[in-house]
Amino acid sequence: MQFGGAWTEEKLQILERYLDAYTTALKNTPFNLVYMDAFAGAGQIDLQEDRDAAGFRRGSTLRAIQIRDKPFDELVFVERDPARCADLERLRDDYPNRRITVENSEANGFLRDLRKDWRAWRGVLFLDPFATEVEWSTIEAIASFHALDTWILFPVSAVARMLPKSRRPDDISPTWATRLTIVFGDQSWRRLYRESPQGELFMRPGSMRDSGVGGLLDIYKDNLKRLFGKRFLSTSRRLKTSTGSPLFEFIFCVGNPRGIGPATRIAGHILERM
Ligand SMILES: C[S@@+](CC[C@H](N)C(=O)[O-])C[C@H]1O[C@@H](n2cnc3c(N)ncnc32)[C@H](O)[C@@H]1O
Repeated sequence: MQFGGAWTEEKLQILERYLDAYTTALKNTPFNLVYMDAFAGAGQIDLQEDRDAAGFRRGSTLRAIQIRDKPFDELVFVERDPARCADLERLRDDYPNRRITVENSEANGFLRDLRKDWRAWRGVLFLDPFATEVEWSTIEAIASFHALDTWILFPVSAVARMLPKSRRPDDISPTWATRLTIVFGDQSWRRLYRESPQGELFMRPGSMRDSGVGGLLDIYKDNLKRLFGKRFLSTSRRLKTSTGSPLFEFIFCVGNPRGIGPATRIAGHILERM
């Protein structure tokens, strides 16, 4: 699997630090711990594209398997691409003593249909799509589990590309309008545009500078805050290309309300200091 630059390593290090701290924090509790990776990839990331590096970078799944202090009791890898699933199955076979499930499924459907008795379980979920694949109805399902601390990559760059250059909301393509509504869960993304006293539609002040990225991100975060309440962490990390263009926003939400204090402290510390 090929992709990524420094921002990929940044994202994976944030996740890995959190997984390490999370499993240690829950080590002496009665819970079984699960790691779920809904856009799992292939286990390794080919660095061919990166001229300054060679070989492979460990992907999120391999990093989760290798968490040592208190290893996860179960790992679930969901991946739509059959070839990547075959790679994940080989990875699973390298760790015969671990409970690893590879699911060749579409991530949204898999998570929405997930029926698990969460009472004895806590865990971490990683949502690492290429672009706008994560649907709001999936986020709602995850919030209802009250069990999975969730790291979400919000695709600021993909979303910004959908906005009409004319900055007039009616110029957005119907396909993209539908996609944004699926991602945001409602028409809230249209709030990016506000009506002037003259009846014209303009982008929110401040949004012009960043092609609407900041405005749309604020709206998405407002929606998360409404859904998760205090389980939503307002601190997040902007992941950028080597030339400084924003790609993704890395966002964190807590699973169980009882974990809000420690989970937000750990995630906040990692996001601010790392
Ligand atoms: C950015 S990569 C994940 C990289 C991985 N986290 C890692 O560190 O190696 C996104 C992955 O999601 C898969 N994917 C894309 N859309 C999907 C969907 N709707 N359901 C499940 N997997 C999907 C792609 O095939 C790809 O392997």
